[in-house]
Amino acid sequence: MVADLSGSGERWEEVWQNLKPGERFDRLSVAPALVDLVETGVLNPPMKVLLPGVGRGYEAVYLAKNGFDDIVGIDISPTALKEAQKYSEENGITGIKYVQGDFFDPQVLTEEYDVVIDFIFKCALLPELQTQWAPRISELLKPRGRLIYFMFPLQEKEGGPPFAQNIPDILEATSSAGLKPENIIDALPPELAHDIHQGRLGLGIFRK
Ligand SMILES: C[S@@+](CC[C@H](N)C(=O)[O-])C[C@H]1O[C@@H](n2cnc3c(N)ncnc32)[C@H](O)[C@@H]1O
Repeated sequence: MVADLSGSGERWEEVWQNLKPGERFDRLSVAPALVDLVETGVLNPPMKVLLPGVGRGYEAVYLAKNGFDDIVGIDISPTALKEAQKYSEENGITGIKYVQGDFFDPQVLTEEYDVVIDFIFKCALLPELQTQWAPRISELLKPRGRLIYFMFPLQEKEGGPPFAQNIPDILEATSSAGLKPENIIDALPPELAHDIHQGRLGLGIFRK
C-alpha cells in the first residue's frame, strides 16, 4: 500500500522507513538543474546554504563536493537523515550539518542563510502549511539572500503530495513575503530534469 504522504512528520517517517533507494520521489542522484546552477556560476561558494526536506542528501553532497562548506540539511524524518548521513559517508563527505526537525519550528532553525534551495519540498507540504512557506523562507534568509526554488509539479492536478504548483500563486506568495523574482523559468529543458520531473519542473530565483 502506498502511504498517504500529506500528513504529519510521523507519516513521513513511516514513508522513509519503507522507502528503498530509487523509489517514489527518491531519484538516486543530484538534480541536474542544480548542477547547472553551480557549473554556470549562479551558485558559488562560499555561502551558507539551507536545504529543507533534504531527503537522502543528493544535493547536499553534490554541493559539499563542489566547494560549499557551510551546508545545513533539515528533514522531519529521522530515518531520512540516517540515510543522508550514510550517503554522505559513502561519498567521503563529513562536513554537512543534518538537522532533524520541522522546518517551520522557529526553535529548530535559528540562523540566517545566504541561500535556501527548495528541491521537491514545498509540494510535499499540506496546502494549508504551504501558506507559511514563503514567510518562513524569508525569515531564514539574510538581507539580499536568495531563494532557489525548483518549482514542481507545474501542472493541474488534484490532491498530493506532490501538490500542484502554479507560477502566479508562487509569485504572489513570494512577493507578499518580500522576495523579489530575479529569474523565472517555467519549463526546464529535458536534460535538466530527472525522468520523474520531466515537463513539470521550473526554476524560480528570488532575492530578499
Ligand atoms: C518529497 S520528499 C523529497 C526529498 C528530497 N528533497 C528529494 O527530492 O529527494 C519531501 C521531504 O520533506 C520532508 N519534510 C516534510 N515535511 C517537513 C517539514 N515540515 N520539515 C522538514 N522536512 C519535512 C520529508 O520527510 C521528505 O524527506
